[in-house]
Amino acid sequence: MSYPNTRLRRLRYNKTLREMVEDVHLRVEDFIFPVFVCEGSNIKREVSSMPGQYQFSIDKLPDLFKQIISKGIKSILLFGVPIGKDEEGLVSCDDNGIVQNAIKFIKKEYPEILLIVDLCNCQYTTHGHCGTLVDDDVHNDKTLVNLSKQALSLVKAGADILAPSDMMDGRVLHIRQSLDKNGYEKTPIFSYSIKYASAFYGPFRDAANNSPKLGDRKSYQMNFKNSIEAIREAESDIKEGADAIIIKPALSYLDIINKIKSKFNIPIIAYNVSGEYSMVAAASEREWVDRLDITLEILMSMKRAGATAIITYHALEIADKIKNNV
Ligand code: PBG
Repeated sequence: MSYPNTRLRRLRYNKTLREMVEDVHLRVEDFIFPVFVCEGSNIKREVSSMPGQYQFSIDKLPDLFKQIISKGIKSILLFGVPIGKDEEGLVSCDDNGIVQNAIKFIKKEYPEILLIVDLCNCQYTTHGHCGTLVDDDVHNDKTLVNLSKQALSLVKAGADILAPSDMMDGRVLHIRQSLDKNGYEKTPIFSYSIKYASAFYGPFRDAANNSPKLGDRKSYQMNFKNSIEAIREAESDIKEGADAIIIKPALSYLDIINKIKSKFNIPIIAYNVSGEYSMVAAASEREWVDRLDITLEILMSMKRAGATAIITYHALEIADKIKNNV
C-alpha cells in the first residue's frame, strides 16, 4: 500500500495519538546516576571538565541524596576518589577505604537506593593503570587476584551490585567464584563487558583522577575499529556469570548496543560517558543546542538501540522532563 492510501503523517497530527503510538519508552527507573566520593570533609568540588558534576566528601552526600531521591532516581554507580595510592592498588581493598566508608554510609542512610559500585584499580594505582604492572603492561592474572579481594571488601561494606570495569580476561569468573565462596552468591555482577579504549573518557579522568601516567589502555580496552569482538566479549562474560552487560561509550556505539541486544537475552546497560555529557554541556552553554531536548534525544536513542537501562550524568536534570513526558 502506498500514497495516497497511505499517509504516514496521519499518525502525527495529534499529540495524544503521537504519544499512543510511541514504541520506545524512557523511565526514571531506567537511570543510574554516577556518584564520585572523595576523602576529606565539607567538600563539594565541581569537576572542571564536567560542569554540573561534583566530587563529594561523605559528610556532603546528604545534599546530593536529597536531590537524587526527590527526582525519583533509584540507582547509583559509586566511584571512590582516594588520596593514597600504591603500585598495585591494594588500598582499594581496605575495609575502611573511602569507597567502603561511603558504601556503609549510603546503605545506612538510604537503604532504598540500589548501590552499584565500580570495581577497578585505576583510581588506586600510582601509575593509573587498571591493574598490576609487570614489564610495563597490566598483568592479567595478577590483577584478577586484586580485583577479587576488592570485590569482597566492597560487598562486605554493603554494595548491592559490582560493576567490574578493568577489562581483564576471566575477571567475571574469578570475582563470581570468590563471592560465592564467601556466601555472596546473591550479589549480581554487572560487567563492563564491552568497553572500548575511548577519547570519550577524557573528562572522567578529571573526576576520578585515574589517568594512566605512562602509555594508554589499548592493551586491555577494546579497539573501536572492531565490532565482532564485542560479541566474543559479551559471550565470554555471560558464560562466566555476568548478570547484565554494560556497554561503553554509548552514543557512538549504538550499533554495538543493537548488535548485542539482537544476539543475547540479557539486560544491557548503556553508559552515557563523561565525554558525551561534556559535549552537550559545552554546546548548550554556548546556546548552540537546547540542553534538555538534546539530552532526551540522546538518551532515547540508547533505548531505541536496545538498552535496558542507562548510566548517565544527566539523570537528575532530565528526570522531571521524563516524568512529565515532554
Ligand atoms: C575506570 C572507568 C572509566 C570510566 C568508568 N570506569 C575510565 C577509564 O577507563 O579510563 C569512564 C566513565 C566516563 O567516562 O564517564 N575503570
